[in-house]
Amino acid sequence: MPRISIAFIGLGGIASQAHLPAIKELGFNVDFCVDVDEQRVRSFTEKTGCKGYSDYKEMLENENLDAVLIATPNIFHATIAVEALKNGAHVYIEKPMATNIEEALKIVDAAYRVSKFAVVGHNGRFDYKAHTAAKLIHRGNLGRVYHARGFILRQRGIPPAPTFIKKSLAKGGAVYDIASHAIDMLLYLSGYPKPVSVKGFTYRAFGDRVEEFGMSYPQPPQPGMVCEVEDFGSAYISFDGGAGMYVEVSWASYVKENKVEYIVLGERGGIQIDGTSLSYVTSLEREFFVASPPSIPQVNSYREAWRRFLNAIENNDEALLCPIATAEQGVIDVTILASIYESSLIGKEVKIDVPNKLVERAREQLKCLKL
Ligand SMILES: NC(=O)c1ccc[n+]([C@@H]2O[C@H](COP(=O)([O-])OP(=O)(O)OC[C@H]3O[C@@H](n4cnc5c(N)ncnc54)[C@H](O)[C@@H]3O)[C@@H](O)[C@H]2O)c1
Repeated sequence: MPRISIAFIGLGGIASQAHLPAIKELGFNVDFCVDVDEQRVRSFTEKTGCKGYSDYKEMLENENLDAVLIATPNIFHATIAVEALKNGAHVYIEKPMATNIEEALKIVDAAYRVSKFAVVGHNGRFDYKAHTAAKLIHRGNLGRVYHARGFILRQRGIPPAPTFIKKSLAKGGAVYDIASHAIDMLLYLSGYPKPVSVKGFTYRAFGDRVEEFGMSYPQPPQPGMVCEVEDFGSAYISFDGGAGMYVEVSWASYVKENKVEYIVLGERGGIQIDGTSLSYVTSLEREFFVASPPSIPQVNSYREAWRRFLNAIENNDEALLCPIATAEQGVIDVTILASIYESSLIGKEVKIDVPNKLVERAREQLKCLKL
């Protein structure tokens, strides 16, 4: 089996702090690397020995690539992904995969045309609690699922880098950044019901106070920084068949503590995941029971996502991707995210119409959770 050649496009925080260590743990290295910031290219080249470029198009033209990570600001994801696919590479796109539905669909289309894989960086799926919960739910332990909700709430967590806070690069704020993870998680856990409408709300409360409300990733806040995008978002999403979902996220807010929590409710049981625990709640003989695993192993979720991705490439087998987030699943995520912004703007519920075929594919791609 010839070795897999890997390129990274965008060499900032997530590429160097999460993806690089993940592939190294798997015994791989970065062969080619691109950033518009030449200083970043130099230091990445020194660290990894990769061949550096400052223009991704030049790299795609010159090199024979098997796998490409796209970790640039959001607005470039889709264009780069489509070009990389056309050049015959499999793509691993950081979230959100695109900033509008049309571009997200173009990625799915490009991947079909060249028979390559396009996956999205929702690595939270590989967290032990989430993966265990997903298996419990997909194997029927909750009965019919009718409600799911997710919270990612930070007190002082505006990511103070242009990638996240400049509208021209990020397009949106907390919703594209962290509601994308929350919605992916809830769709993954609840098995891709078909969304039919969204009522969303976004708000920019701390944009002029980045020094006070910023976090240290991907770099400490600089004086005078302004966050041009929203730092709060919430949405109620309705699904075909009557189920509902609520999501609330904040980069910054006056909450007592930071919180990441997911709850999925079914007619025969419920799942609750928070920062440190996973609980399964059910009833037996009219008595409530709460079960939790006695220990929660720490999993490097980036490594697990890369393991699936590289294994599927090596064996040319799409089924081996499961449960990594696929481009089809990413389109559904982006459709909901874009609708949150639209609904907030017009102050009304927005109807959405995702093609049935896409939803069926999204469900099929999670088949491994049932086995
Ligand atoms: N999965 C996760 O949990 C997670 C976490 C953090 C970031 N992300 C995503 O990863 C992406 C990057 O985030 P980051 O934290 O690394 O940001 P960052 O600002 O640290 O890095 C982005 C890099 O992209 C480079 N860049 C900009 N335009 C480019 C272009 N056209 N071609 C090549 N390089 C270009 C920048 O110079 C910078 O080095 C974002 O889309 C973000 O949403 C995902």
